[in-house]
Amino acid sequence: MRRALLAGNWKMHLNIAEAVDLARGVVEAAAGCSDRDVMIAPPFTALSAVAQALQGSQVFLGAQNVAWEAKGAFTGEIAPPMLKDIGVRMAIIGHSERRHIFGEDDAMINRRLRAALEFGLTPVLCLGETLEEREGGKTMAVLEAQLRSGLQDVPTGQAEQTVLAYEPVWAIGTGKTATTEQAQEAHAFLRGLLASFYDKNLAETVRILYGGSVKPDNVDALMAQADIDGALVGGAALKIDSFKRIVRFQ
Ligand code: 13P
Repeated sequence: MRRALLAGNWKMHLNIAEAVDLARGVVEAAAGCSDRDVMIAPPFTALSAVAQALQGSQVFLGAQNVAWEAKGAFTGEIAPPMLKDIGVRMAIIGHSERRHIFGEDDAMINRRLRAALEFGLTPVLCLGETLEEREGGKTMAVLEAQLRSGLQDVPTGQAEQTVLAYEPVWAIGTGKTATTEQAQEAHAFLRGLLASFYDKNLAETVRILYGGSVKPDNVDALMAQADIDGALVGGAALKIDSFKRIVRFQ
């Protein structure tokens, strides 16, 4: 049985005081939910302060990206040991905004993922097709190519610690959610790919989150799908009332 993971990606929002406030709310929202994991990924500037606010709680601290080297001349990047140093446990990698706005390619994403694993951070590898790709019937081919290159040279022991997040680009921040059937179909396809790249055991272990306009009113139906193991939430993670309802999905 896979443990549910409800994750908030705060993107480029909130100052330190606002982030600490929201983090405290998430700690309260997650209290007593011992059957599920909760993660929040604040902007880098708020990580230290949020780490303090999460101390003693079950809520995991996540980063929104991670460099592929431990140190060096990489202006603007944050190394995995630096994140570990302040208590980060997970790292979102290959988010569609990184791929499409900042031009991160599959090879770069694979390097980030392998570095995260090497330094003991749990990667959340994001995958998803654009509207054009979906309408052109290319969804599954895109997902297969992204998963294959994302996990290239990742051995079984590390791959089973990876979390996947299916985030159709056309559903992010648009209010358009994939239907539960579209999401389940993509998740089942990704799980099948994991079984063929590795083995059935690994495929049954790896958690696959859905992301893209997850809200209080659609989270229960999404989470009821056999292959949807959690949610990666943007907008609705920025308000405690909506994120609390998502954390407490039924
Ligand atoms: P929204 O929930 O705002 O659509 O964002 C999803 C997302 O990109 C999470 O990483």
